[in-house]
Amino acid sequence: MRIVLLGAPGAGKGTQCKSIVAQYGLLHLSSGDILRAERIAGTELGKKAQDYMDSGALVPDEIIIEMMAEAIKKAPAAGFLLDGFPRTVNQAVSLGESLAGNGMKIDVVLNLEIDDNVVAKRMTGRRSCPKCGAVYHVENLKPKVEGQCDNDGTELVQRPDDKPDVVANRLKTYHQQTEPLVDYYRNNGTVYDFDADRNPDEIKTSIFEKLDAPVKT
Ligand code: AP5
Repeated sequence: MRIVLLGAPGAGKGTQCKSIVAQYGLLHLSSGDILRAERIAGTELGKKAQDYMDSGALVPDEIIIEMMAEAIKKAPAAGFLLDGFPRTVNQAVSLGESLAGNGMKIDVVLNLEIDDNVVAKRMTGRRSCPKCGAVYHVENLKPKVEGQCDNDGTELVQRPDDKPDVVANRLKTYHQQTEPLVDYYRNNGTVYDFDADRNPDEIKTSIFEKLDAPVKT
């Protein structure tokens, strides 16, 4: 199964990805996580991406398309779940062409729908583990020990792009450049919409129902 997960910043893409990849044995490919790892490693790619990310703008298509094409090559036969990519119509077209060249396609697009006001609240409370990437929230999803990752005890941090002014820019960027992808995929395949302003478990159950449906029929 090859899945694209769409949704505004803070819609809960990373949160839902963990359950989906565990359930279906897919490779989770988050363009944001890959970029953050490149920055921590101090690579040229990471340095090029830094200013775009910290201001809430998109990293240029040519950098992202090449980076994700490399990452997709490592996917198992079971497939992959793309989180944060594609983010522009140009990236989606390029992804489609690259998959078609290998006799593949995106099977389904999951679209998490959320109001901008809810996003703003979620982002300011998000805390992440810089080591394993686990995501928490100071109110909605607390770690067992305050300020520490459940997986490895690392001190949790706030992402630099979760500051309110950068979040506002990220939302603007999303509406201008990424939201048009929902219609792009509606015209080119299957898109399932989910109300993302619910308990994470409820959202997960709705997603599994849709993903299991084609298998049952
Ligand atoms: P990226 O890392 O992809 O960030 P994003 O899309 O903005 O998404 P987030 O990771 O912020 O949010 P999420 O939807 O995963 O939410 P989460 O589950 O963490 O991109 C960062 C930057 O990299 C971009 O701005 C850009 O510069 C660059 N970039 C990346 N990909 C690119 C591309 N393809 N092209 C160009 N540039 C690119 O949840 C958020 C919070 O809410 C958490 O605290 C969580 O605990 C909580 N939460 C989650 N679900 C719920 C729920 N149901 N109820 C209550 N709380 C919840």
